[in-house]
Amino acid sequence: MSAKLMHAVQYKSYGGGPSGLKHVEIPIPSLKKDEVLLKTEAASLNPSDFKIQKGLVRPFIPRKLPHTPVTDVAGEIVEVGQGVKKFKVGDKVVALLSFGNGGGLAEYAVASERLTVARPPEVSAAEGAGLPIAGLTALQALTQAANIKLDGTGELKNILVTAASGGVGHYAVQLAKLGNNHVTATCGARNIDLVKSLGADEVLDYKTPEGAALKSPSGRKYDAVIHCATGTPWSSFEPNLSAEGKVIDITIGPSALLTLVLNTLTLSKKQLVPLLMNPKAENLEYLVKLVKEGKLKTVIDSKHALAKVEDAWGKSIDGHAIGKIIVEP
Ligand SMILES: NC(=O)c1ccc[n+]([C@@H]2O[C@H](COP(=O)([O-])OP(=O)(O)OC[C@H]3O[C@@H](n4cnc5c(N)ncnc54)[C@H](OP(=O)(O)O)[C@@H]3O)[C@@H](O)[C@H]2O)c1
Repeated sequence: MSAKLMHAVQYKSYGGGPSGLKHVEIPIPSLKKDEVLLKTEAASLNPSDFKIQKGLVRPFIPRKLPHTPVTDVAGEIVEVGQGVKKFKVGDKVVALLSFGNGGGLAEYAVASERLTVARPPEVSAAEGAGLPIAGLTALQALTQAANIKLDGTGELKNILVTAASGGVGHYAVQLAKLGNNHVTATCGARNIDLVKSLGADEVLDYKTPEGAALKSPSGRKYDAVIHCATGTPWSSFEPNLSAEGKVIDITIGPSALLTLVLNTLTLSKKQLVPLLMNPKAENLEYLVKLVKEGKLKTVIDSKHALAKVEDAWGKSIDGHAIGKIIVEP
């Protein structure tokens, strides 16, 4: 018997941006024993999706071509593998799909049980789909890399979040404020009100000289910088850091690597800390719970039908999204 088909969006070769995406009918994927099959309700885009298409991590990711991109999804379970214990058919979930296989831009997607979490009715599919990469990165940067407590039991810190209007940044501002920390944020002029509404205490317009200098208007020195923008030299951070301040850099480039080496050689107490997100289901569960309780929100830049995914993909590449770009099959 031939396998049932589904609509999906794939690319066959590296590069090509939105026009490299092709609409295809392919078999609904089959499951391994520790996997679940979701009917996709929403997927969210991350810069990693178009960077993988550009070939940034070839030949490791994607595992093979053609590739169905996108890792962040929310949906309903329609089938479970033999070994799956936590979920049953009909459960609503949020999942982070494998980077190597992707699969989010399709009517059905395979997720490992390990990186799938329950989604309560209070959390919409779009709000849930926004969380995996961006939310987990913001959470890990604050709690693990910068050692900041979000429940208010730790010492209160002065935190700078750069690109606070983007996917990672908008979650980082909200999470940092959960711990009552003082948050300075950078964004463009059009997003200042939004970023203040997310809880930022002071906001710098990154296109002004004051914003580029990253100086806190209230004269605070930052204990931690959650650096979600790119192209900021260490010399802009250094004078604004507290004695043992850390810059958590989530997009480390060659000049940041050089800084890392120089700081190590000079035994600098001010540190640059590179971060690669390491996904954990318990952290994703925590983020979903915060959304359910109204303590964290996913700002939705725009919603796009899968049939028009090229618009969404182009928007992500442009780099001006406000919150998360959502695709709905
Ligand atoms: N290390 C990891 O594990 C990890 C995980 C997730 C993401 N990342 C990386 O982190 C970066 C951010 O990801 P994202 O999902 O947040 O991206 P995004 O949502 O595409 O970010 C877009 C936003 O950034 C703002 N922005 C751009 N340059 C800025 C600057 N110099 N100062 C202030 N705001 C600026 C834009 O505002 P305007 O429209 O006003 O320009 C826009 O609102 C990407 O490079 C991504 O690949 C790394």
